[in-house]
Amino acid sequence: MARIWRDADIEGGAHLLGRIAILGYGSQGRAQALNLRDSGASVTVGVRSGGKGARRAEQDGFVSVAMEKACFAAEAIALLVPDSVHSEVVASTINEAAQPGARVVFAHGYSTHYGEAKLREDLMPILVAPKAIGPELRNLYVEGRGAAALVSAPDGQMDFAVQYAKALGCGRAAIIESSFREETETDLFGEQVVLCGGMPTLVAAAFETLVNAGYSPEAAYFECLFEVQLIANMMTERGMGGMFEQISDTAAYGAMLAGPEVINQGSRAAMERALERIRSGEFASLWREERRKGLPSVRKWLAERSWARLDETHAKLTGRAESPTSSAPSAEPASGESPPAES
Ligand SMILES: NC(=O)c1ccc[n+]([C@@H]2O[C@H](COP(=O)([O-])OP(=O)(O)OC[C@H]3O[C@@H](n4cnc5c(N)ncnc54)[C@H](OP(=O)(O)O)[C@@H]3O)[C@@H](O)[C@H]2O)c1
Repeated sequence: MARIWRDADIEGGAHLLGRIAILGYGSQGRAQALNLRDSGASVTVGVRSGGKGARRAEQDGFVSVAMEKACFAAEAIALLVPDSVHSEVVASTINEAAQPGARVVFAHGYSTHYGEAKLREDLMPILVAPKAIGPELRNLYVEGRGAAALVSAPDGQMDFAVQYAKALGCGRAAIIESSFREETETDLFGEQVVLCGGMPTLVAAAFETLVNAGYSPEAAYFECLFEVQLIANMMTERGMGGMFEQISDTAAYGAMLAGPEVINQGSRAAMERALERIRSGEFASLWREERRKGLPSVRKWLAERSWARLDETHAKLTGRAESPTSSAPSAEPASGESPPAES
């Protein structure tokens, strides 16, 4: 079993972290800088001059400086730019400017695990990976709650990792010992098989099945998409058993019949293939090649919009415009949320 820390298990405060440079002021950068500062840490924000991050950091009351300058003065550097540019920022900035023996904090293990970010030998890689997007990490902190985090550190450095996670508010939920490898592989697996790959594909396929059989798109929308949130909330709040206790006997009986037919041995084999592709490094090399070519397959897939009818129904029922998902994605998906205003 993994070790788990909560606030009550962690002595001391954020002043023990020393001076921290936050590199990048986007989704995680903004949330982490604000949470650390509000917890009492000494934070400098390093950004590209003239960029959106520089403007937002100054609006939030930080003095933003060039990334190199932020590194010179810091005992710990949090690398909070997209994973796809970690290798470049590590080589051009961190390895050039970091103090000897500085800690380098990653919010996701990808670039380290797959050998893309090559830190100078004396620098210490620390993983503090909040299991929340940046705006949620910040909102939970402001509400007095927190997001869970996975942490990993070299020998003798775990106290720092845990203290850093506590300053982000993660000790109000759970700080869980992990490794760069485990965090990276489980994160990729979860997003591919459940969150961004499996579940949206299941929703869209079920919706199409009902509509093709002559049911109205509106009725199909509510059954196949809208109520997903209800069930997801029940599962996260009460566990799987708690969810099954809450639903009707009819729903539970139908789930028993249809669930294993839909997610069957073939689906299990597909999950194992996805996991093997991640573990072997094949996924990382395919993704590197896709980025090198300018994302042709992912652009094509998004432009085809196999979920178009579902989105049209969503737009009609909610009065919201359809998302322009046929436009080009960034090289690092799932990171572009614009931070909401502070409450
Ligand atoms: N999305 C999340 O909330 C989330 C959740 C958990 C973990 N993570 C991890 O957190 C890290 C940061 O992800 P993110 O989603 O927060 O990134 P992000 O919002 O896309 O980061 C944007 C920031 O990175 C800067 N930046 C982009 N390209 C750069 C480059 N080539 N050189 C220097 N700066 C550059 C931007 O500068 P400008 O402002 O000048 O454009 C901006 O300040 C990643 O390791 C990610 O896996 C993210």
